[in-house]
Order: sequence, then structure tokens, then C-alpha cells
Amino acid sequence: MASALPSLLLFLTLSVLTTTISAHNITAILSAFPEYSQYNTLLSQTKLADEINSRQTITVLVLNNGALSTLTAKHPLSVIKNALSLLVLLDYFDPTKLHQIPKGTTLSTTLYQTTGNAPGNLGFVNITDTQGGKVGFGSAAPGSKLDSSYTKSVKQIPFNVSVLEISAPIIAPSILTAPAPSASDVNITGLLEKAGAKTFVSLIVSSGVLKTYQSALDKGLTIFAPSDEAFKAPGLPDLNKLTNAEVVSLLEYHASPAYIPVGSLKTSKDPISTLATSGVGKYDISTTTAGDSVTLHSGLTSSRVAETVLDATPVAIFTVDSVLLPTELFGKAPSPAPAGEPVASPSPTPVLAPSPNKAPVEAPSPSAASPPAPAGEAPGGAPADAPSDDSRNSTADKDNAVHVKASVMLTVLVMVSATLMSSIILS
Ligand SMILES: *[C@@H]1O[C@H](CO)[C@@H](O)[C@H](O)[C@H]1NC(C)=O
Ligand SMILES: *[C@@H]1O[C@H](CO)[C@@H](O)[C@H](O)[C@H]1NC(C)=O
Ligand SMILES: *[C@@H]1O[C@H](CO)[C@@H](O)[C@H](O)[C@H]1NC(C)=O
Ligand SMILES: *[C@@H]1O[C@H](CO)[C@@H](O)[C@H](O)[C@H]1NC(C)=O
Ligand SMILES: *[C@@H]1O[C@H](CO)[C@@H](O)[C@H](O)[C@H]1NC(C)=O
Repeated sequence: MASALPSLLLFLTLSVLTTTISAHNITAILSAFPEYSQYNTLLSQTKLADEINSRQTITVLVLNNGALSTLTAKHPLSVIKNALSLLVLLDYFDPTKLHQIPKGTTLSTTLYQTTGNAPGNLGFVNITDTQGGKVGFGSAAPGSKLDSSYTKSVKQIPFNVSVLEISAPIIAPSILTAPAPSASDVNITGLLEKAGAKTFVSLIVSSGVLKTYQSALDKGLTIFAPSDEAFKAPGLPDLNKLTNAEVVSLLEYHASPAYIPVGSLKTSKDPISTLATSGVGKYDISTTTAGDSVTLHSGLTSSRVAETVLDATPVAIFTVDSVLLPTELFGKAPSPAPAGEPVASPSPTPVLAPSPNKAPVEAPSPSAASPPAPAGEAPGGAPADAPSDDSRNSTADKDNAVHVKASVMLTVLVMVSATLMSSIILS
């Protein structure tokens, strides 16, 4: 029985987690329609497909290959991404609902509005049921025309995803003329300093890792920059005790040589390789998602993705709440950790760890100054050694909320399984 409990727990936890991952796959839906093949390709190239799949309630306004060509003819991918994100409505509109809009006109939020690139109401779309049964679409910006109209329904998965064909792109003022930022112009240090990651900036400058980042800009780069608060967290190893090479690896570990916007982080199933990755499975990062929150896992520590600093194809920059300590530098997490990984709860869970003595923190690398339990993510890990994890005074209050929620969930799961177990034993 004792051995069945962890696997049952894991199973229950996984089933809870999977319900938060939506069932639709826009790429698969559109692949049945060759007339939208270009649109579908662009959704993948811009990673908008991941963003669409990560949302529960969405309407995708598609253009056939002919209508799309006016948009794609002479614009760079970053501009096309903005224009396409204006066609993704964050609400569910099927043909019936389109024709039953109260008072015949409404504004809908779009993905463009969530990018931070849309000033004013440029990220909204006006949907108007015109006399004569036509439904027109246009930018919500004052003075805009309804320059596109509904042509037909493509696919509905009721109340989650609706795919409708429209006649022409919806063009918000300046969306096509905005200068396409060249990736090599991205001022990494300037952006990160403004976002509250000055310590990280000084480290990447002094170590020379900034140059490595810059040389990756054109081909795709995602940076996970720990905030200044993250470097003050109790339990963080003294970085001054690392060798230069180790500092370089640690900093390279906080970036990936690929464009991974937040929607892709949410839907990614495979571990993410980093600039420190030297071979398969080395120095990679796994992710878990709970609602809108994405957490990164090194195998030793976890860190919530805090803020999107920049999302401009092919560069994404995020701040994160904690420094991620790769196991390659700081040793392995105490394992096995039943149900610990998916829930990512650093809070010690008494139910699972009755004996604090039995969880030594391995530190195979003597050069790595191994602190007592650096914010371990395994619930089985030395509770007595990690008081900071329990602290309500953490700099990352929101993160705490997530952790608390996770522990509550875990506790509920433990109770449920205990009940199940006892009913099995009793029967
Ligand atoms: C639609 O989304 C809800 C959550 O909002 C989910 O529970 C349900 O399974 C989804 N339905 C389909 C058919 O994907
Ligand atoms: C979505 O479908 C496409 C094509 O069928 C497939 O290649 C891709 O892996 C799927 N994505 C997910 C997240 O399942
Ligand atoms: C949408 O646009 C039409 C035509 O320009 C306008 O009459 C209507 O008021 C707009 N709807 C909203 C909700 O702003
Ligand atoms: C980057 O931004 C910082 C701070 O805003 C500024 O001091 C620096 O000159 C900028 N660097 C470049 C190359 O523009
Ligand atoms: C909470 O944080 C503040 C500011 O960092 C500090 O002064 C205070 O002592 C901390 N309190 C506890 C209980 O750790």
C-alpha cells in the first residue's frame, strides 16, 4: 500500500494538471483546410499557435491564402505577428452569437491587446451586425472603417474555440507601418535595468555573457532574468565563491537560443535547452503551468516567470522570481520526490516527509559552495533546513500565493488518496 500511494498521488496530480491544459490544437484544426495553409504556417512561425492553444476561450478569424497575401507581401514577421494577433479574439463567437450581438455592435479584446504593443484601443476589434445580415469587422480605433466581413464558419468546439473566415485583414492604424524592430537593436541591458534586474545586468556585463546573448539575438533568444530581489533570496549560494567558468554557465543557463514567447512556455512539453546546454539533457529547464502562471524548474530550484519585458519576434525577455540553480553546478535535488515535480511546491509537506533527518542534500561538486537546501522544490526535501521557503515575507508574494495554493492542492490530494486507500483496505 505504501508504495501505491506515491504513484496514485502522482497520477491524481497529473490529472489535475492536465485539466488546466486546453484540448484544442489550432494547427491540427487548420491543417484540414488547404485554403488556410499559409495562415496556419504563419501561426506556427510566429508562435501564435501556442498562444491560441494555451487559451480556453478564443475565436480565430482566418484569411484564405489569397486574402492573406495582401498582408504578407512586404512585411517582416514581427509586423505580420501583430496583424495576425489582431485577428485572435479573446471571446467565443460562433455564427449564432455573431448575429445576436446586443444592439448590433460590440468591441472584442484581441491577443494584440495583450502584447503591450497596442496603445489605446488599438488592440480591440469592432464587430458590427450591419443591416442585411452582414457582419463587419474593423479596428476599434476612432474613425476606422469596417473593412472586413464574416464569410463563413470553419470550425467550432463549443464555447472554447471558434474558427471563422473573414474577407480581409483587420488593419489598426499604424499596425503595418510601425518600424519593425531589428533584433540586433534590442538593448538588453537597458530593458533589463528598467525591469528591475540590475544585478543580473552587472553580472552578464562583467562576465562577458552579454556578448553571447547579443550574438544569439538574430537567430532567436529568450532570456529569463532573475530580478534584483531574487539575488537577495536567503539560501542562495554565494556566487562570489563560484569560478568564472561557473558564473558563465549559470548566466548562460538563464537564456535559451530560441524564441519562446509566453504562450510557447505554457504549451511546451519538452525541456527547454539553454545557452549552457552542451549535450542532450544537460543544463535544460522544464516548465509547468498553472492557469496563467508559468514556472521554470532546474531540477533543483523553481522560479515563476514574473513579467514579459520584451516579446518581439525573434527575441523574448522575461524577469523571473528566483535564480535557477542547474543541477550540473549545484548538485541533484533530493530524490525521489513523489508528486513533487509537477506541483512544484517548495513548501515542506509534513505528510510526505515525516522524517527530516532522511533528506540529505547531495552536493557532488565540491567546488560549488552548497548551501543548506537552496530553495529546493522537492516536498520531500529537508524541511528543517529550508525555513525561508515557508516565509510569508518573501519578495515574491504572488509566487508564494501559487506555492500556497499548490500545497493546499497537494494536501487535498493526500487526503483524497488517504480516503481512497482506507476504503480499499477496508473493503
Ligand atoms: C472547454 O474549456 C473548458 C474549460 O473552460 C474545459 O473544461 C472543457 O473540457 C473544454 N471543452 C473542450 C471540448 O475542449
Ligand atoms: C498540434 O497539431 C500539429 C499537427 O497535427 C502537431 O504537429 C503538433 O504537435 C500539435 N501540437 C500539440 C501541442 O499537440
Ligand atoms: C463600430 O463601428 C461602427 C461603424 O464605424 C460604429 O457605428 C459603432 O459605434 C462601433 N461600435 C462600437 C461598439 O464602438
Ligand atoms: C541601452 O540602454 C541604457 C539605459 O537606458 C543606455 O544607457 C545605453 O546607452 C543603451 N545602449 C545602447 C547601445 O543603446
Ligand atoms: C521582512 O523583510 C523586511 C525587508 O526586507 C525585513 O526588514 C524584515 O526583517 C523581514 N521580516 C521577517 C519576519 O523576515
